[in-house]
Amino acid sequence: MSSSPLLDPSVDHALQLIVTGASTEETCATDLAAGPWNFDTVPGYGPGSSMGDVIPTGAPRQGELPASYREAAEPELHERIRAAKAALGERVVVLGHFYQREEVVQHADYVGDSFQLATAAKEHPDAEAIVFCGVHFMAETADLLSGPDQAVILPNLAAGCSMADMASIDQVEECWEQLAEVLGPLDAPDADGLVPVIPVTYMNSSAAIKGFVGRHGGIVCTSSNARTVLEWAFARGRRVLFFPDQHLGRNTAKAMGVPLSEMPLWNPRRPLGGSSAAELQDSRVILWHGFCSVHRRFTVAQIDQARAAHAGVRVIVHPECPMEVVDAADEAGSTDFIRRAIDAATEPTTFAIGTEINLVRRLAAQYPQHEIFCLDPVVCPCSTMYRIHPGYLAWVLEELVAGRTPNRITVTADVADPARVALERMLAARPPVAVG
Ligand code: 13P
Ligand code: SF4
Repeated sequence: MSSSPLLDPSVDHALQLIVTGASTEETCATDLAAGPWNFDTVPGYGPGSSMGDVIPTGAPRQGELPASYREAAEPELHERIRAAKAALGERVVVLGHFYQREEVVQHADYVGDSFQLATAAKEHPDAEAIVFCGVHFMAETADLLSGPDQAVILPNLAAGCSMADMASIDQVEECWEQLAEVLGPLDAPDADGLVPVIPVTYMNSSAAIKGFVGRHGGIVCTSSNARTVLEWAFARGRRVLFFPDQHLGRNTAKAMGVPLSEMPLWNPRRPLGGSSAAELQDSRVILWHGFCSVHRRFTVAQIDQARAAHAGVRVIVHPECPMEVVDAADEAGSTDFIRRAIDAATEPTTFAIGTEINLVRRLAAQYPQHEIFCLDPVVCPCSTMYRIHPGYLAWVLEELVAGRTPNRITVTADVADPARVALERMLAARPPVAVG
């Protein structure tokens, strides 16, 4: 046993120790030690990894959380959450993403990645309410996959995703029109039966984008099935338009042998995305100019440092990391891949992990036989996952007990029907592992 069994998984506690000077760790934003309600009235993603990203003007905002939740001590909030859940019984299911803070995850009935949680939502058709402790696109996906009478609730409406926001439906429609000018009619198959381009969207995108993809013969992917999905797309099209995450697209296509020279970037603010017509015609994968600000923090220098300091370290990173980082790592895979890799290690091992800090600290606490640390030494959680706090969870649950349904996320039928088509294509391409 190489590390202490008393590791604290709480990022909140680590932040408190940093701001009080009791810890020598660093954080990217000392504001993170404050309650997220301090940022509900301020436009922006709030403190954390996405704080420098530009938020769309129409991004949902959260109304003021009542004082009795803002001012309650943590033990009281936990007690209120437990009492409300007990009162609601099987009428409610609480889902928690891997990147949620420990103080929220402890109340979740299911903890998993975005796809596993969507599956969990689908598998509870009798629950009246699904409280989704994650971000907006995940709640939308749960609404797509759950029954029409079930309410999917996002405890804090400001919990968006800066990556998902980097591809708006208007920008994607505009891109599609420009591609048609360069590539000809996009629904017309050539002599080999291939259309000019198949749109592929990462799960981390709005329902409107999933609907666009469904209407145009495309498909959704997750970080665990991106290769299978690209194979599906290449069987139907000459090239792929991949959004919003350039890194997942590039890392996946590169591993399949697509040369970088055939992967132009599409910048929605530039004509033809910033490429020439010839570059688009010669392309195999057109990569949208989007990224995750959590995973963009990881660098090759951090990997070099980890290898220098820990002989035999196993470096595993998420495929949302830049290509150089994925190339320098020992393995790359989805959040659930990372969890399973650690779970499968039979000998005490040192793991350096390139993904969100809440998951890494939880894994370190759950597997004390291993030494597990985050590649990024700076404590910098996802800004929008951080917006969910036990105060909001207590509030939405007590509202449900009182017969009200706050913060319901609903996808309208005109978007939901084609978005489901795109999701169903993904499931048919290869169903990912369901939550256990
Ligand atoms: P998964 O939940 O699909 O692993 O994605 C990681 C992520 O960035 C979620 O926002
Ligand atoms: Fe979005 Fe990245 Fe946060 Fe996931 S970790 S919600 S992709 S910003």
